[in-house]
Amino acid sequence: MTKTYAVIGDPIDHSFSPALHNAAFLFLGLDCTYIAYRIPKGELEYGVEALKKINIAGFNVTIPHKVDMMKFLDDVDNECKVVGATNTVVNENDCLKGYNTDVDGFLDPIKKRNIDSKGSDVLLIGAGGAARAIIAGFGKEKARRITIANRTRERAEELVKFAQDIGLESDYLDLQSAGEVVNRYRFIVNATSVGLKGIGCPISTRNIGKESIVYDIVYLPVETPLIDQSKNQGATIIYGWEMLLAQAMKSFEIWTGKPAPYQAMKLTLLGRF
Ligand SMILES: NC(=O)c1ccc[n+]([C@@H]2O[C@H](COP(=O)([O-])OP(=O)(O)OC[C@H]3O[C@@H](n4cnc5c(N)ncnc54)[C@H](OP(=O)(O)O)[C@@H]3O)[C@@H](O)[C@H]2O)c1
Repeated sequence: MTKTYAVIGDPIDHSFSPALHNAAFLFLGLDCTYIAYRIPKGELEYGVEALKKINIAGFNVTIPHKVDMMKFLDDVDNECKVVGATNTVVNENDCLKGYNTDVDGFLDPIKKRNIDSKGSDVLLIGAGGAARAIIAGFGKEKARRITIANRTRERAEELVKFAQDIGLESDYLDLQSAGEVVNRYRFIVNATSVGLKGIGCPISTRNIGKESIVYDIVYLPVETPLIDQSKNQGATIIYGWEMLLAQAMKSFEIWTGKPAPYQAMKLTLLGRF
């Protein structure tokens, strides 16, 4: 019998997930299909009931439901517990288990480059949902310190506390100061939405150098202004699409128990940009 998977969120019509997963199913000849299902905020409970009614095999969860979805899970993996949010759910006989593949999805491109984050100092720009998974990732890798720079100080302070709770040294900086001291950090990660559609750079890149590793999780466009400018300064670059692909591959592997087809999924993703 055909297995059906989905991504839930709102908005959802521009999601890359259906294309990515359907390409992988096709490539491996699996009798599975993947759909986008819009569930507005406030309607999650009914939405989840509807998914159970169609015997959904599993689903991804995106904005605005990643945190709220936790309430409807029967079981969670360790990453979900730490981050307090889920992006991947497995349904077995109406029993829902949540996973969070954003954490390992974020770390994957770093590991692919054989970069060891242990003991590193990190400048994380942004304090939204994605930032939390990134902090959990650096916590898992035993980084030393994570400084959180964000437009809204209160949101950053919450994450400073979260980082400290999981064993990292952590403090706050405003965006302007962050640009001035950026050369003190090994990793510079952009987890704001600044740079989307090629508009804006979250901090000044003047002091970024050859030793810096600049990771921009914004993936549209592939070359954001931060990436473009940091490249000119000689920094090592990690692209947002790499995280997007890695978290999708990890969801696929949780659902199917098979290695995700990297090339087929990468070509599909890059072909859509
Ligand atoms: N590559 C991937 O796999 C992946 C995964 C997840 C997310 N993303 C991307 O990461 C970005 C953040 O996602 P999210 O879910 O964390 O979003 P979010 O929860 O809405 O957080 C948005 C962040 O961007 C900041 N921000 C927004 N507009 C700003 C501006 N004009 N100036 C300065 N800061 C601004 C916000 O600061 P305030 O706190 O001050 O509002 C906040 O820190 C999005 O572009 C998303 O597409 C990529």
